[in-house]
Amino acid sequence: MFNEEKVISKWIADMYDKDETETNDVEFALDIMGTQPKKILEIACGSGRILVPLAKAGHSVLGLDFDEYMLYKIGAKAIGLKNISYKKSDVILDEWDVNFDVVMLAGNFLFNIVSENSYDKAQELLFKKSAKSLEYGGHIYIDYGYTLSPENWFCFSEERIIWEGTDSDGTYGKMTLSDSTFDKETGMNEFVRKFELTLKDGTKIEQKINSKKHFATLDQIKNWLEKYGYCVENIYGDYNKNPISETTNRAIVWARKI
Ligand SMILES: C[S@@+](CC[C@H](N)C(=O)[O-])C[C@H]1O[C@@H](n2cnc3c(N)ncnc32)[C@H](O)[C@@H]1O
Repeated sequence: MFNEEKVISKWIADMYDKDETETNDVEFALDIMGTQPKKILEIACGSGRILVPLAKAGHSVLGLDFDEYMLYKIGAKAIGLKNISYKKSDVILDEWDVNFDVVMLAGNFLFNIVSENSYDKAQELLFKKSAKSLEYGGHIYIDYGYTLSPENWFCFSEERIIWEGTDSDGTYGKMTLSDSTFDKETGMNEFVRKFELTLKDGTKIEQKINSKKHFATLDQIKNWLEKYGYCVENIYGDYNKNPISETTNRAIVWARKI
């Protein structure tokens, strides 16, 4: 998921699946999509937290992700569903399938892209590729953490525990973030992601990954949407459909390919 060692990837997939069980965003997305069955492409579908409920609601869905441990978890959740498929793909490097009614960049993917490209170029590429995958009149759905004061979010030095627990192989571990800085000019957030694992046989594994994210402002998002031929229909600041404000901490964008 973050260019980490394999045993760490397995541990992350288990932690993600156990801890990240939010459903508000999924219910919101279902409401926005409407009840008419649609052909939906989810970029970076992970372990199917969003993909599977979309399929259960009757949409025909394809999920792409490059993490085989995450993808593996979808099978058990999708038993009996004929309208779901998923495949291993690096969404920055590989071609995407086409003719979709909706392309989803949800679950904060704008902040979780792993790529050798510069971060904002990778973000922009997602808008370009989405346009190619959509039918005319189809929609792009973007949901990501957004704040009017990113410096308050991203500047901290202490170690923050993000996940801690034991996976199905009996590997205990902890992932922390620390030394996080934010450059207002470039919108770049730099931080250290640290994994400390203890395998069942007592072997200890530690990996530190110097990480970067680009905070895309809404103006940047709007510019990319305009550049690649979309018309913005709605922007929400939370799952109650309030507008972006000082107190909201998300941006959900629904734009049509024209
Ligand atoms: C935070 S998870 C989100 C998963 C899912 N959308 C959800 O909301 O539960 C981010 C996912 O992005 C995937 N990812 C990151 N960079 C990727 C890339 N270049 N190609 C494919 N998948 C990528 C990771 O493997 C991970 O599963």
